[in-house]
Amino acid sequence: MTTGGDADRGAGEAPPGRSALSDVPVVPGPPRLPGLGNLPAFARDPLGFFVGLRERGDVVAWRLGPQRALFVSRPEHIGELLTGIETVFSHPGLGWALKLVLGEGVVTSEGADWRRKRALVQPAVRPRQVRAYAETMAACAVEVADTWWPDRVIDVRREMLALTQRIAVRTLFGADTAGREEVIGAAMDVAQRAIGDEFRGITLFLPSWVPTPGRRRLRRAVDVIDTEVGRVTRERRHGSGGRDDLLTRLLAARDEQGMPLSDKEVRDEAVTLYIGGHETTGTTLTWAWYLLSRNPRARARLGEELERVLGGRTPEFDDLRLLPYTEQVVKETLRLYPPVWLMTGVAREGSTLGGRPVPEGTVVWSSQWSAHRDPRWFPGPDDFRPERWDADGGPVAPDHAWFPFGGGARACLGARFAMVEAVLVLATLAQRFHVDVEQGEVPTKPGLTLQPGAPVRAVLRAAREA
Ligand code: HEM
Repeated sequence: MTTGGDADRGAGEAPPGRSALSDVPVVPGPPRLPGLGNLPAFARDPLGFFVGLRERGDVVAWRLGPQRALFVSRPEHIGELLTGIETVFSHPGLGWALKLVLGEGVVTSEGADWRRKRALVQPAVRPRQVRAYAETMAACAVEVADTWWPDRVIDVRREMLALTQRIAVRTLFGADTAGREEVIGAAMDVAQRAIGDEFRGITLFLPSWVPTPGRRRLRRAVDVIDTEVGRVTRERRHGSGGRDDLLTRLLAARDEQGMPLSDKEVRDEAVTLYIGGHETTGTTLTWAWYLLSRNPRARARLGEELERVLGGRTPEFDDLRLLPYTEQVVKETLRLYPPVWLMTGVAREGSTLGGRPVPEGTVVWSSQWSAHRDPRWFPGPDDFRPERWDADGGPVAPDHAWFPFGGGARACLGARFAMVEAVLVLATLAQRFHVDVEQGEVPTKPGLTLQPGAPVRAVLRAAREA
């Protein structure tokens, strides 16, 4: 039900007949309930809700409870939002669990503090540096392949999250966590789950002092993380032993004053890199297997490329440029199932979009899910067609139509890391196995990341004899 009237009009929404955002009309969102606005429809099916907004218009005014919101679907506006975060728009507020786990790392800080931290973390994940982690990534994938055999039934998501967890722990801490990988992994899992629950609104509105069982579990997990990361960091300060992992890089980083990160800062950034990279990449790989299983032609083309370039050997960093189709499979997976499926920015005093003012406090939303399936930029938007990314196919879509890693100043720091990891894992495992997913359609479950809504069970088949 729309209650109507100026007071109820959404952010940036002009009186009828006038546009508040340059030449693009601002259209009203679906009917709202008094007090709740569009919250019920959003909470019921956020992905469908966003697609519905996109179908209404390029800039849609809506309300999430008392929050005035704009939803933007044109790549130009999405670009403005992403590149304007930290200048035009503020980064959205973060929950209690996220802050407890990540501390004051690059994700949870803002302004000058964020700039300093980003500059300190960047060298650890810069493309040139990622080369040093490639061997570990492929080695971890080989270890998993050695536990697979034809006709074995696997839970794809569980296998992929266990694999990306192993890669995260080893690329962060090298061999120093030997024997402790599972302890760290289990504590990180508790932390990740608590952040996900908070994101879904389960605990977001409870004051931080309310001691729920989940929060007690989280505090215990954070104690374990602090102890383990603290121990490795202290040992490593006495010498890296020639290692070149993320921790070595964080310890070597110096700010503009020549100051290193403190132990607490190293802890916060290490946990940030872990949490930022583990579930996102594990989920991408899960969806990649699902999509390949449903698209035999794409799987066959992938198999041909792997056979021709690798012929059964384990891939190395230098093989990456010879595996364009494998990379296209990952990009197309990120298009259809973007792990991060929404981005927001909060308008500050004087914020504008499309050259027109946006009232302070308005939250501007965009969604990778709806933008990546927009038929204007991606013909046959629901089809899995890695070929659309062929180098000779011309530009695939305008800038900011595909933005799984965000964009602008706060774009993902681990984008290259994630792409290299996903391609090496796929190349290693797909050479040896076909992963035949048993179910037909797998539903989506949007939380902190876009998860499958049911276990993805699959039967393994030998790929090379097939
Ligand atoms: C497929 C995998 C991944 C996806 C889809 C992804 C996506 C994203 C997105 C959309 C953002 C921007 C979030 C925002 O501004 O609200 C982001 C930020 C970030 N990501 Fe990733 N990410 C992935 C993997 C990784 C990996 C592997 C790492 C670390 C090795 C990582 C580290 C970070 C960090 C540190 C930030 C914060 C940057 C900042 O605030 O300045 N990510 N990621």
